Amino acid sequence: MEKKNILTGIRPTGRLHLGHYFGATRNWVALQDKYNTYIEIADVQALTDNFDNPEKVRKSVKKLAIDLLSVGLDPEKATIYIQSMIPEIAELTVYYSNLVTIARLERNPTVKTEIKQKKELFGDKGEGITYGFLGYPVSQAADITAFDGELVPVGEDQLPLIEQCREIVRKFNNIYGQTLKEPDAYLSETKRIKGLDGNEKMGKSLGNAIYLCDDEETVRQKIMSAITDPNKIKKDDPANPDICMVYYYHKLIKNDNLETVCQECKNGTRGCVNCKKELIAKMNEFLKPVHEKINYYETHPEIVDNILRDGTARAKKRAEETMKKVRKSLNIDYFE
Ligand code: TRP
Ligand code: SF4
Repeated sequence: MEKKNILTGIRPTGRLHLGHYFGATRNWVALQDKYNTYIEIADVQALTDNFDNPEKVRKSVKKLAIDLLSVGLDPEKATIYIQSMIPEIAELTVYYSNLVTIARLERNPTVKTEIKQKKELFGDKGEGITYGFLGYPVSQAADITAFDGELVPVGEDQLPLIEQCREIVRKFNNIYGQTLKEPDAYLSETKRIKGLDGNEKMGKSLGNAIYLCDDEETVRQKIMSAITDPNKIKKDDPANPDICMVYYYHKLIKNDNLETVCQECKNGTRGCVNCKKELIAKMNEFLKPVHEKINYYETHPEIVDNILRDGTARAKKRAEETMKKVRKSLNIDYFE
């Protein structure tokens, strides 16, 4: 039986942290054996938000590739490519843009939330919302369907974008004849990873993240300042590990000593400083193989370039095939 196509994307706007790892990329690594996997470095999409700071996007593309390779994505199994180098995606976006109303885009819950966040940040009344930003779900539909993406691993916040993509596909097929595949979202069990400060989400802008590339000293400092049970004042006060971020991370990295940590915390035989020290050691151990790979790729940039070049060439071929079908359906295949 032929393998199904899995496609997902990630915006290059900074390095990967544990939230990305446990919430997303770890799952992609597990999926690459079973599926024909496409991983898009979505620089065009990143520019919708960062059009005034292209340097930030550019700087992040190869770093992101290094992080993705270092967590275990295998370029033999997964096609990792750069969105902007595949103009077919942009072309498809243009055709799709006729099939979507502005009202429908404005009603998209993901877009709505993001517009609200932007307004809170910049206090504007909507004049700051660009055409490109409002239309990014259309472009993301092109991302997916240009490669016949069948399953799309995403977080819950992205579900409305998959739904919108399905609508576009149905409309296209209705008007122009059966051409495209309707994708399904692929939800993973782990959703959001909490930050060191106890915030529901680990995020760059929140300053509560441990990055995969953080060195031992940085990891130490960050964990030392993590939020613990606020009711524990003295070293031998009993505490509640369930409201402690240190315990949360012990759990996340599967400390084999977890039961002891929990018991000792509850009965007051464990001090927070020691508990943090144990986590620091285990976290650094956990990150060590990733660091070795990051270091390898950072000292061999030509290998990273080759992987991206190969992946992009493979992806482009695939998108060209789709576009042939699309142009035929649209009746614009003039010299065929
Ligand atoms: N919008 C996604 C995010 O911010 C990234 C993305 C770009 C994507 N293209 C995609 C996800 C295609 C799935 C499929 O996380
Ligand atoms: Fe958290 Fe450990 Fe302190 Fe318990 S002992 S509150 S688990 S840091």
